[in-house]
Amino acid sequence: MRTFVVAVLVAGVLVIGARAQRPSAREPMLQKTTVGSELYRFYCSNCHGLDARGRAATPAMQVAASNLTVLAANHGGVFPREAVRDIIAHGSGRGSVHGANDMPVWGTIFRAFEPNDTMVDVRIDNLVRYIESLQVSGVTTGQAH
Ligand code: HEC
Repeated sequence: MRTFVVAVLVAGVLVIGARAQRPSAREPMLQKTTVGSELYRFYCSNCHGLDARGRAATPAMQVAASNLTVLAANHGGVFPREAVRDIIAHGSGRGSVHGANDMPVWGTIFRAFEPNDTMVDVRIDNLVRYIESLQVSGVTTGQAH
């Protein structure tokens, strides 16, 4: 019995080990989670940074990606929840000097992979809440680093 238990444990470790070694190229293109922090990491951190403090413009991204930790500080200490929600759902509508709008319209993207308005809303709400949880206190410039 003991040998059997050990054999099962070893087999389990081998299976988990083999999974861990799979190359990251097999990561899914879509992340179906509804958890705000996971959505953020998957869909937003590329441009806004893992710490959400923004990124400078690059040739590929003509406008700097905003520092998302200072949205409250830049609005008199009040997190502009509705505005942030609107930007995520419908885009910022800002466009760069070249006419491109580098900030994707997430409402459309989320709806494309799961055409269920409730799930789209849940994802956006959780993202907004996650971003709200990252707000720093005090007034800063809001410039990307
Ligand atoms: C391809 C790059 C890119 C990705 C990915 C991206 N953003 Fe952005 N985002 C930008 C850029 C560039 C801006 C600044 C220009 C603008 O507002 O259009 C911006 C602006 C914003 C703003 C407005 C901030 C302000 O100062 O008012 C919010 C909110 C935001 N992004 C949230 C998100 C969230 C949430 C995600 C993930 C679901 C995300 N972004 C993914 C590039 C990106």
